[in-house]
Amino acid sequence: MAGLIPQHFIDELLARVDIVEVVGDRVSLKRSGSNHHARCPFHNERTPSFTVSSTKQFYHCFGCGAHGTAIRFLMEYDGMEFREAVAHLADVVGLAIPEEAQDAGPGEDHQGVYRVLSHATELYRGWLRQDGQRAVDYLKGRGISGETAQRYALGFAPPGWENLLRASDDRDALKAAGLVIDRGDNRVYDRFRDRLMFPIRDRRGRVIAFGGRVLGDGEPKYLNSPETAVFHKGHELYGLYELLQRERNPEAVVVVEGYMDVIALAEAGVDHAVATLGTATSVRQVERLFRVTKDLVFCFDGDEAGRQAAWRALENVLPAMREGRQARFLFLPEGDDPDSLVQRAGGAGFEQAMAGAQPLSDFLVARLSEQVDLTSMDGRARLLDHALPLLRRLPADIYRHMLIERIAGMGRVGTEYLEGVVDGQERDASRERPATTARREPTLRRTSVRLAIALLLQQPSLGADVAEPASLREIDLPGVGLLADMVEIARKQPNIPAGALLERFRGSEHESALWRLATWDHMVPESGQQAEFLDALARLEAIRRDQRLQYLYDRLQRGQITNEELAEWNRLLQGASR
Ligand code: CTP
Ligand code: MN
Repeated sequence: MAGLIPQHFIDELLARVDIVEVVGDRVSLKRSGSNHHARCPFHNERTPSFTVSSTKQFYHCFGCGAHGTAIRFLMEYDGMEFREAVAHLADVVGLAIPEEAQDAGPGEDHQGVYRVLSHATELYRGWLRQDGQRAVDYLKGRGISGETAQRYALGFAPPGWENLLRASDDRDALKAAGLVIDRGDNRVYDRFRDRLMFPIRDRRGRVIAFGGRVLGDGEPKYLNSPETAVFHKGHELYGLYELLQRERNPEAVVVVEGYMDVIALAEAGVDHAVATLGTATSVRQVERLFRVTKDLVFCFDGDEAGRQAAWRALENVLPAMREGRQARFLFLPEGDDPDSLVQRAGGAGFEQAMAGAQPLSDFLVARLSEQVDLTSMDGRARLLDHALPLLRRLPADIYRHMLIERIAGMGRVGTEYLEGVVDGQERDASRERPATTARREPTLRRTSVRLAIALLLQQPSLGADVAEPASLREIDLPGVGLLADMVEIARKQPNIPAGALLERFRGSEHESALWRLATWDHMVPESGQQAEFLDALARLEAIRRDQRLQYLYDRLQRGQITNEELAEWNRLLQGASR
């Protein structure tokens, strides 16, 4: 096992690192006092509830509860492992990781893995030049020049079981890198044989894996490196490093499916293409791309399989859609892929096709309306039903608003109404519990329950004014149970400080919602807080009465009402009409 990184080193590292810089490199922060704010990168929200404190050196999102140090941030945001995050930060501030933590065992220290991967890349390239005539011919046959092959560091793994093995002395690293296969009886052999080799590079340009293509028609067409300590298929984008070498902030990036598509496009001068590695585009990949460009064009086959793949991509693009970002879908003619299209139409022809790509919103709307009959009320209801989960994936932003407006128009309901449903405010609001509501809901709408809780957090002594906290629990509204719990604590200890009140709910499902309410700027001046609190309670009491009336009325309709309940119903009716 690797030596543990000593705690004192981590302390020192965190003392030297500035979390504001670490986060600020990745998320745009706004300063206010000693805090910085941003829209939380870990959940969708309209108003910034993500705070980075430079004095406390931690981040905290009042919306989703994400919190931690600079190390945790890199782990969560960049998907680094603990060690990787520590090493990265140590690098930034110029600290060396202590010796005892460095003599890592296999799989822990990735240096050896990177080294053999880089060595293998050079060997494959050399073999392509020296005895890769067949591979060179194959590339030429597909229109790929030596220059492009060099840019993408293409290589050739010759036939034979031990080419790589014999050329390298670090068998363990070869195994850890996925370059050789262990037969089990302590015998290993080269994974890639007689294949054209595509090195996959990470954002720093280090080779982390390979794809290998047969020369011709054999099966399987591609072999890829397995998942290793340094390679996670779903995270990487083939060609991104090469693209960024040319252009730090390309105007648009085209996302295609295959290695050969990227290469053929580059050959034709369309050198802003990247490929997912045979997997659906992940949210993380999309976020990464949107960090370098504002315009993503996803390129898919025109057949049903392509449309389905596009739909999966769309679902993963939604959480990243904000104003100023654009995602488009290009559907190729049946039987074409980007490679064949660019061979036929040339780079300019491909760019022209790209200009006609369908905006995400058009694709979404077209696909949704295909599935239902919009002339019937039923069909429109189904449309809204299908649209809801998609709309909920969008960050609350102008973009979302515009899409909601459009879909509301198709469903013939009001935009405000649909927006409310998307936010979980209307109709199905009662299905949600406060904790999940807070996570999904970007803005804090001023509901009576929220206001009452927020005011109580500021001034726990207000709880003494509540005559019957138990009756709160009868109301079918999210959060009333929590409010009742808090009122009960506050009634017993009117002088409890808000912090201590919050502390009571640490680790509970309400923790993050409470944190948010505790810092919510509800704008009620101190002098008006008591009146506002009592008003909120009165509104809740009115809701309780209405719900009770509804319940009793149902019982009456079904003929199940008891005499007592009938008397109660009459009483409530009189109260309600006053
Ligand atoms: N893929 C794979 N394994 C396979 C087939 C495909 O990993 N057996 C992945 C590869 O990343 C490939 C991508 O899926 O690049 C797209 O597949 P395909 O369109 O078949 O490959 P192309 O890159 O277009 O290759 P070619 O044009 O040479 O057929
Ligand atoms: Mn192809």
